[in-house]
Order: sequence, then C-alpha cells, then structure tokens
Amino acid sequence: MKILEEMSPIAKEMQGYLHWLQDEGIDIWKQSHPISPLTPPELPNPEIAGFGDLFTLEMVRAEMGDCQRCKLAPSRTNLVFGIGDPKAELMFVGEAPGMDEDVQGEPFVGKAGQLLTKMIAAMGLSRERVYIANIIKCRPPQNRNPEPDEIASCRPFLDQQIAAIGPKVICALGKFSAQTLLNTETRISDLRGKFYDLNGVKVLPTFHPAYLLRNPGEKKRVWEDLQVIMAELNLPREGRK
Ligand code: URA
Repeated sequence: MKILEEMSPIAKEMQGYLHWLQDEGIDIWKQSHPISPLTPPELPNPEIAGFGDLFTLEMVRAEMGDCQRCKLAPSRTNLVFGIGDPKAELMFVGEAPGMDEDVQGEPFVGKAGQLLTKMIAAMGLSRERVYIANIIKCRPPQNRNPEPDEIASCRPFLDQQIAAIGPKVICALGKFSAQTLLNTETRISDLRGKFYDLNGVKVLPTFHPAYLLRNPGEKKRVWEDLQVIMAELNLPREGRK
C-alpha cells in the first residue's frame, strides 16, 4: 500500500471519498478482484447512487498512469484507455487493442473499428455519443488472446470506467468480451441478443465486428441485436437498417 504522501492529489481525493463511504457503512464493493494498491480490492458497484460523480474517468486514467502492472506493458506503443462520452448511455466493450489501436492510442480504429463506427451510425449515434473500451488496454503480441493474469491486472480499471460512466447498456463485442464480462463459458452464439445483469447494468453480447468482416452473412443477426439495444434506449428505429 502506497503511503498517502506519495499519491497524486486525485488519488488522495478518491481514497478520501472511498474511506468516507466505507465509514458511513456504505457497501460499495461486491466481488473480489485483484486491484492496484490505491483502490480497495473489490469490484465497484455501479448501482450506488452518485458513485459516478465521485469516481471520474480522469481519476481512473490517472490511477493507471504509465501502467506496468502486467507483462504487456514493455511491448505496447500506447495504453488504449477508451474514448467517447464520459456519461454515455451506451458503452461498447471489445477484447484488446490491435496494431492500429496500439499505434493510435484509440480503440477500434482499424478495419473492425471502421465497421463498428458504421454499426454505431446505423443506430443513429456516433462514436462521440457512446463510450468505447476494451477488456484489456494494451495490445497482446501477435494479437493473441489476453491471458488470465493480464485480465486480472486490467479488469478493475474497466470496472471503474463502467462505474464512472454509469451506462444503461453495455454491448459486449465478441466471445471474449462477453465471456469475460459475464464470467461465463457459454458460447457467444448462445449469449448474443439477450440482456444479462452486471451489477445493475444491462449487458447485451453480440458478434465482434472482426468476425463480421470474415462472416458478412452474420451482419443481419448483429443488426437484430443492435435493435434490441435501440429499443431499450428508446432510440428511434424507423428508417434505419
Ligand atoms: N478489436 C478489439 O477487440 N478492440 C479493438 O480496439 C480493436 C479491435
């Protein structure tokens, strides 16, 4: 545990709030997760009223700093934190940055990202009106799947991002994101198109845009899934395809 004097002002402020909530007997933490030293060792519960006002994306980013918590740090070009509206109702969560994302420091900017941008536009939204992040924030070598220790290091920050944003709906992009977020081994083809609860946030899994690039015939099913989200968020559906 770092001593208070070594912490940034933001981290001190955050810890002060967290201690205050705990002193008040407010249970802000639910499940156990390994977490970095500045934050309590469990999952923030986004159901707590006002929690997003205490816990901002800037605080989470400051806490990550020049993250060296896992073995992906030495090979990354940029840590890909996330982008979009810090109070978005809809959040997309992918797997991990690829080569383009690593270079640009922004999630979903390569070919799969361009397709995601079109999917978002088809919903009548834009990248600026949603929030886009990944399960892990650094590119795995050769785009291999993230490993359990890497997820364990990074997951608390995703949970904190979700708590700060307070989205109504999270769209989990692909098998890896859906299975990790929901802590299940159920196949993506069985998970997709339905809502699941994640501490009061509705999670709807669908196929990953990279999968759609290889299987364009599945776009129809993804569009059906996106329409379920649009209905939940009361987004106008008429004339959209
Ligand atoms: N695939 C992902 O899962 N995330 C990205 O940011 C890019 C590609």
